[in-house]
Parts: sequence; structure tokens; C-alpha cells
Amino acid sequence: MKQQEQFSSRLGFILSAAGAAIGLGAIWKFPYIAGENGGGAFLLLFLIFTMILGLPLLLAEFSIGRTAQQNAVRSFQIIAPGTKWYLIGILGMISVFVLLSFYSVVGGWIITYFWKMITGQLNGLTEPEYAEIFASTIANPAISLGAQLFFMIITIIVITRGVQNGIEQANKIMMPALAILFIILVIRSVTLDGASAGFSFLFYPDFSKVTAHTVLDAMGQSFFTLSLGVSAMITYSSYLPKDQNMPKSAVSIVAMNIMVVLLAGLVIFPAVFAFGMEPDAGPTLLFNVLPTIFSQMPAGMLFFAVFLIVFLFATLTSAFSMLEIIVAVLSRGNKRKRKQWAWIIGFAIFLFGIPSSLSFGLLSDVSLFGKSWFDLADYMVSNVFMPTGALLISIFISFKMKKCALYEEIKSGSNLRFSVFQAWFFLIRYIVPVLIILVMLDVIKG
Ligand code: PFF
Repeated sequence: MKQQEQFSSRLGFILSAAGAAIGLGAIWKFPYIAGENGGGAFLLLFLIFTMILGLPLLLAEFSIGRTAQQNAVRSFQIIAPGTKWYLIGILGMISVFVLLSFYSVVGGWIITYFWKMITGQLNGLTEPEYAEIFASTIANPAISLGAQLFFMIITIIVITRGVQNGIEQANKIMMPALAILFIILVIRSVTLDGASAGFSFLFYPDFSKVTAHTVLDAMGQSFFTLSLGVSAMITYSSYLPKDQNMPKSAVSIVAMNIMVVLLAGLVIFPAVFAFGMEPDAGPTLLFNVLPTIFSQMPAGMLFFAVFLIVFLFATLTSAFSMLEIIVAVLSRGNKRKRKQWAWIIGFAIFLFGIPSSLSFGLLSDVSLFGKSWFDLADYMVSNVFMPTGALLISIFISFKMKKCALYEEIKSGSNLRFSVFQAWFFLIRYIVPVLIILVMLDVIKG
């Protein structure tokens, strides 16, 4: 079997896996869902679920990937030969195919907005004017498809370059840049007059707004932000050398993810409250409300440009991981095939994403099961494919992998105590599946 490429260092791996995790989930979805669900209470629930569901699952995916050191499908075939468990990998490939098809649409919006920003088209408008510009931009098929294609081409190029020269290098530049730029934004936002109302909104848990749905949304959110259930983390950890500390890496990645969620909240809510706006604007919060706020600050448009770069980097680094899952399976470590498959699959994803892109314009009247194509794709991935994948992974690891071999694998490169391992195993075997089934039942109830 071909020797796989590997990350050159643990830092490279951590930044890449954190890059896969931190994306639209933390920066776009989290603020508006928290905004609609009582802020602090939602944050608290999100943190609890990240610890009891996200972290154990992340380590579970790492253990599978590094045990087998193969792609998402081969890993299951190696660990459980002659069984159908490899279908988890296939499900992951289908999930990220659909996911990237609409994720790239939002990536395209960010690029378009950035372009409008630097060409001065977004200067000094009012909220309704921003809303109008945003709506007309995403409804324009040439612009939105062109930008989506551009986003996909960047993703494809990085993936053609392989693990070390492509994914690792891009993440090593983009992730520190993201952190620094984010901190600049936070400083700007929290020093605004009136920012404190934003702090209380984010940190003071108002449980009166919490419903059963909030709890389940928080769970789904912790899931989505860590990219769980679609074999992304299996794929990345298959490139992790055996002497590296997996539990520590998992904790670092979760910590970075939480940091970014907090930073995004700290940029958005103080600013929203300082300018007397409402935090529950929904999905357009970032595209309509944020520029309105920034445009009222001194040098605000510069800060908005910084924000868009942060947003773009986060989206790209997640997109890399999605395309990589599929390309790794199809190219099986062959460099020439990696290039070919990256282009073929990347382009196929773009084509499949066309109806998502047009959902806001030409196809806005078309609905399937009461949803636009874009919403349906998002719904299927976030509420059906990802939880199913994660549920199967937790069952696979609890009942198909030998407990002592798992302990050996996790211990390789770390000095994890057996009692901690036991606690993790208990969570992954009993708590995680039950929680996931609860989420799914709620989804079925609609
Ligand atoms: N974690 C990403 C986000 O929060 O935007 C989404 C994601 C990336 C999901 C990669 C799945 C994946 F494989």
C-alpha cells in the first residue's frame, strides 16, 4: 500500500484541523443563531455540548484516522475488513460534496463583497441600502456563479498541491493571520461607547429564551463547527505521525474553535448594541447589519475589509478539508491522480452548487419540500448526514474497535491516563449516541 503524505509538524496538523473546524459555523451561523436564541444561554449550551459531544467525537475520529493511516474509506476497510462500515466514509464523501456545493456559494458572496468594498461601492450606505445591495448581488447569476467558481478554483489549487505544500502551508499562513486580524477587530469593537450591552448579551445567560429547540440547535452547532461526522477529521489525522499527541491536539483544536466563536461574538455583539441595532437579524446579520455598523465608525470600512478577509480565510480553510476528503479517497496517495481528481471533483461540486447559487435569484420561486435548493442542501447535510455519520462513528468505535488497541493508539505520543481514557470511552459509547439520537428525533418531528 502506498505510504501517505504526512503533516510536517504537530503545529501544521493543529492549524489545518482548526482551519477545517473554524469556518462559517463559528463566524456566520453562530452569531445569528445566538442572536436569535438569547445570546449567553445559547453560548453556555454550545460550550457544554462541545465538551461532552464534540471533544469525544473529535478524538474518536482522530483515533480511526491515525490507526489506519488511510483515507476515509480505506480506514474503515482496514480496521473492519470485509464489512460494510466503509460506507461511513462514502457517506462522508457525499456529505462534503453537497456541503461544499453551497458553502462555496457563501464563499463567493464574501469575495464579491470584498470586491465591492475595495472598489468603494459599499461606502456610507444605510441598512436598507446594504440589504438591497446584498440581495441584488446574490440574485445576480453571473456575479454569484462567477464568484463561486473563483472560490472553488482557489480551493482546487491548494488541494492539487498536496498535504504539506498545499493544505499545511495555506493554513500556516491563513490561520495566524486570522487570529491577528480578529484580535484587531475585537479591540475595535469592545472599545466602542456602549459596547457593554453586547457583553451582557453574549455572556449573561438569559434562560427565559431557551426552548427545547435552542438546546438542540446548540448541539447541532457544536457538531457542525467541529466538522464532525463526515470523516474530515479522520482524513486529516491519517496524515498525523504516530509520535504526535492526539488528545492534546484535540483539546487545542476545540480550544481554538471556542476562542473564535467568542471572538466572533465579541466583534459582532458589542458593535451591534453600540449602534443600537438588533442582534436577531438572522443569516444576513453579517452582510447587512455589520457593514451598516462599520460604516458609522472612523475608518470603519477598513475594519470591514479586515473582517471580510478573516471571514474568507476561515471559509477557505474549511473548504480545503472538504475537497481533501474526496480527493484523498479517489487518488489514494498518487500525486498525478490527486491533481486530476481535485479538478474533476472541484468542478463537479461547482456544477452541483449552481442551483444553490441560483436559489437567491432565478430559482427563488422553486421549492423542494418547502425549502429552496440552498436551504435543502444545508438542512440535509447539517441535520441528516452529519448526525448520522457521527452516530455511526461512535457505534463503530465503541463496538468494532478493540478497546485496548484504541488505548494504545491514543496513548502513542501522549501519556494519557487510563482513567481519562475510560471516561472518554464511556462518553463515546453511551452519551454521544443517545444525544445524537435525540437531535435526530427532533429533526424528524420537524
Ligand atoms: N466546521 C465548518 C464550519 O463551521 O464552517 C464546516 C465543516 C467543514 C463541516 C468541513 C464539515 C467539514 F468536513
